[in-house]
Amino acid sequence: MIDIITIDGPASVGKSTLAKRISNYYEVPLLNSGRLYRAVASEIIDKKINIRDKYRILQCAKSLTNKNLSSKKLFSSKIDKIASDISSKKYLRNQLKIYQREFPRKYAIGKKFSVIEGRDIGTEIFPQAKIKIFMWADAKIRAQRRYLQIQKKGRKVSLKRIYNEIIARDTNDLNRKIAPLKPAVNSVLLDTSYLDIEQAFRVIKKLIN
Ligand code: DC
Repeated sequence: MIDIITIDGPASVGKSTLAKRISNYYEVPLLNSGRLYRAVASEIIDKKINIRDKYRILQCAKSLTNKNLSSKKLFSSKIDKIASDISSKKYLRNQLKIYQREFPRKYAIGKKFSVIEGRDIGTEIFPQAKIKIFMWADAKIRAQRRYLQIQKKGRKVSLKRIYNEIIARDTNDLNRKIAPLKPAVNSVLLDTSYLDIEQAFRVIKKLIN
C-alpha cells in the first residue's frame, strides 16, 4: 500500500497550512478532504438544492471535478455552515469515502507518500495509515488566528462571531453520530496552541525521518 500521512483536527487549527507545507517540502500529493464537503455545499447553493434532497446531493458528490475542488469560492461563512450541516449525512460521507480512498492510488503512484487532512481520515478513511496526526489548539487561540488571517486580507470581521462559528462547528464535528472528530488509535497528538506552523512542521519531519 502507498504510505499515507493523515492529519485530523478541528476547524482553523492549521491542518491545511501544515499539510501544504509537508506536501511542498516532500513533493507529495495532498488532499484537503474538507474541500469535498465544501464543493458539495457550493453546488447546493448554486443549484438551489434542498438540504434534504438526498438524490440530488448524491449526484453532486458523484460528479465532483478537480475544477469544483479548486474553486476559490469554497471559503465563506455560508459554505462553512452548509458543509458542516451536510457532513453529518451518512450517505454523503459514504460517497465521499470512495473519492478519498481512491486518491492515493490515483495521485501518489511513484511518490513517497500522500498527505490527507480532515476530520476522520485516521479513524475512518485510512485507519491503517503509517503516520496519523491529531492536531489540536484551544478554540480561543484558533479564533484569534483566523481573525488575524481575515484582517490581513483587508476584510472586516468580528472576533466574537468567528469564535462562535468555531464553537458551532466543533460541536457538530465532535458530537455527530457518524465519523465524529476524535483521535485515531496510534495517532500522535500535536497541540499547536503554543506552536507555530514551522515548529509543528519540525515535529512532523522528525516523525517522517
Ligand atoms: O476542514 P474544512 O473546514 O475545510 O471542512 C469543511 C467541513 O467539512 C467541516 O464542517 C467538517 C467537514 N469535514 C468532515 O466532516 N470530514 C472531513 N474529513 C473533512 C471535513
